[in-house]
Order: sequence, then structure tokens, then C-alpha cells
Amino acid sequence: MTRKSIHIIGGGVAGLGLAWRLAQAGRRAIVFDKGAIGRSASWAAAGMLAAVIEAEPGEDALIPFVLESQSMWPEFAKELQAYTGLDVGYRETGTLFVAAERDDEGLLKQRFDFLKARSLPVEWLERSELRKREPYFSPRVTHGFYSAGDHQVDNRALVDALHAACKKAGVELHANADVSEIKISNGQATHIVINDGIIAVENLVLAAGAWSGSIKGVPLEALPPVFPMKGQLVAMQMDVYQPLLKHVVWTPQIYMVPRSDGRLIVGATLEDKGFDASLTAGGILHLLRKTWEALPGMEELPLLETWAGFRPTSRDDAPILGESAIKNLSFMTGQHRHGILMTPLLAAAMSEYIIKGKLPEIAAPFTMQRFK
Ligand code: GLY
Repeated sequence: MTRKSIHIIGGGVAGLGLAWRLAQAGRRAIVFDKGAIGRSASWAAAGMLAAVIEAEPGEDALIPFVLESQSMWPEFAKELQAYTGLDVGYRETGTLFVAAERDDEGLLKQRFDFLKARSLPVEWLERSELRKREPYFSPRVTHGFYSAGDHQVDNRALVDALHAACKKAGVELHANADVSEIKISNGQATHIVINDGIIAVENLVLAAGAWSGSIKGVPLEALPPVFPMKGQLVAMQMDVYQPLLKHVVWTPQIYMVPRSDGRLIVGATLEDKGFDASLTAGGILHLLRKTWEALPGMEELPLLETWAGFRPTSRDDAPILGESAIKNLSFMTGQHRHGILMTPLLAAAMSEYIIKGKLPEIAAPFTMQRFK
């Protein structure tokens, strides 16, 4: 008996998570990545699991979705680790949101009130409590609040673990396989063009991140409305035994994510500049200045890396999942700022969609139907 194959365009954490789940369910999953596996947005991210801190007004369907995915993380990390033997750096550090300048105090209070009004679990902290939790904060940091459920994962370790899980489960993985076009005939995807070759497809998933909105062959009106939203980031090295920071910390302008190996990841700009990946003096200056305002001791830290990535941002900042106007083509894109956080739920929801033909209720609001 031949098994129906599922071809997945995109080897980021979304495509890999789905492929792993499909292979576990006995399906033949084939993943194509235009570069090395998982080296686009999944690699560029900071790895925050910030369902609460990142909640925005108007995200009535999205908030329960990201909260559900957040609740799946402990088990997902444990399962992936047990399956591959690889640690994904899931850390329950909690997250602080602080103001490091007077002008930000209003913003901080506004944010806190918004989250409280949604009954999201945040706790207001006075200066003495903040200093107890983070003794190296600048004296400028006078107020803040704590989100006990927002944590972090090492997204690069996550890519490596999902890659290993896919290999172990029998997923066929193709790196440097640039899918430039989907051939469509009678409303059905028949082939994909890869580098200089062409292959037949039965069941196709577009999980190509920021590139999903511009793939050739799909009629313009059927393409997912997804575009790149650039983020620049910087990493520094803290003392592993006496780190300058222990929690994930947000200010209204930046976030700082301390890893267990002492790396401090700081991000990120939010720039609508197409696929221009250049690092800019202004972007890096902004990240470093805002870090310094909250954490002056950073002056002494060695710089490790600067980089930029492209969030796959949809017209309404929410994911685009499930059916498309092309019969055998499904979408798994538009994660915007939540790609790492959504990994467990996206893999579960989209594998259910592929296997049973229906998205679970929590994912149902996120089809292309909402743009009609
Ligand atoms: N989730 C953080 C970011 O997109 O920058």
C-alpha cells in the first residue's frame, strides 16, 4: 500500500513540528527548506513564550490560542527531549515588564491595566521588589509588573531538536531546496518547482514563513496576505555564575532574554522594509541604548552576535491556517511575533487538519475565510 505524501514548503519550527507529528501518525512527510533547515525566522527569534506580555487589544481569538500553546510547552519540551535526547532550553524564568524612563511609566500602567482587565495573571511590583528579583537594574527602573506564566525556550536548540526528531521519525528533509513555484491545474496543486527540477505533489502545505505571501504560481487573490516584518537583535555574554539578569525582561521598547549559558539576547526592532536584511547603526544603537538604560552593567559585556530575521506577519497579525482556494494546498503561516510560542499548538492543529480534514475549534478562526 502506498502512503499519501505530504509535501511541506518550509523547514522552520512550524514545518518541522508538523512533519514530526505527521510522521508519528504514520504519514509520509517531506520537508523543503530554501537554505539550511530552520535557519530563517526560527533561528533569528529570541525564544520568548510570552502569551501574556505580548497580548494586544483586538486579539480576542488570538489570546486563547497563544495561551493554549503556552500551556502545552512543558509537556512538548519534555516529549521532544525524551524523543531526541536534546535539551531545548525550556526555562520557567517568568517575565518582568518594567519602565526605565519616566515617559514609559504611563505605558507600563496602561499595559498592566489592559492585561488585568482581561484577567490575565500579572502582578504589580514596587521598586524594592523589583530590585530583589533583579539587583542589577538601574535606579531608573522604578515600577514594573511580573507575568508568572511567560517563559522562554532556546529557539536554536528547538530547531536542532525538531530537526533530529524529524530524522528519527523518518521525515524526508531537503535543505537548500528552494521551492520557487507551485504549478496549479484545475484548481489543484500538481507540482512544485525546486531549484532546477520539478516534482509531483499530492498534499501540499505552505509553511514558508515571510516568503509564503509571494510564492509564484498561486493566483494573487489566493495567496496568504503575509509579508516580512524585520527584526534586528544582538547577543552579549554574561557571567554564567553571576548573570546580570535572571528573568526575561521587557520594556516598552525592547526585551532581554537571559539564557542558562549566560547569553543575553536583546531584541528586537519591528521594521516594514521588505526582505532587506541589513543591520543598521540606528537599529543596534536603539537596542543597546535601551538595554543600557535598564541594565547599565551591560557596558562590560562582550558582544557575541548581531543578526536580523523576518517575522511572517499577516494582515491582522494572526496566523493563517488550513484551507486555501487551491484544493490540496493548505496554509501554515502568518505567525508574526509568536512563531516559537505557537509551535506545539500549530503542530497539533495542522496535523489534525491534514489527517482529519478539520481544524480544532481553537484554530478555526484563523483560516483565510476571515479576509473575505
Ligand atoms: N516575539 C518577539 C518578537 O517578535 O520580536
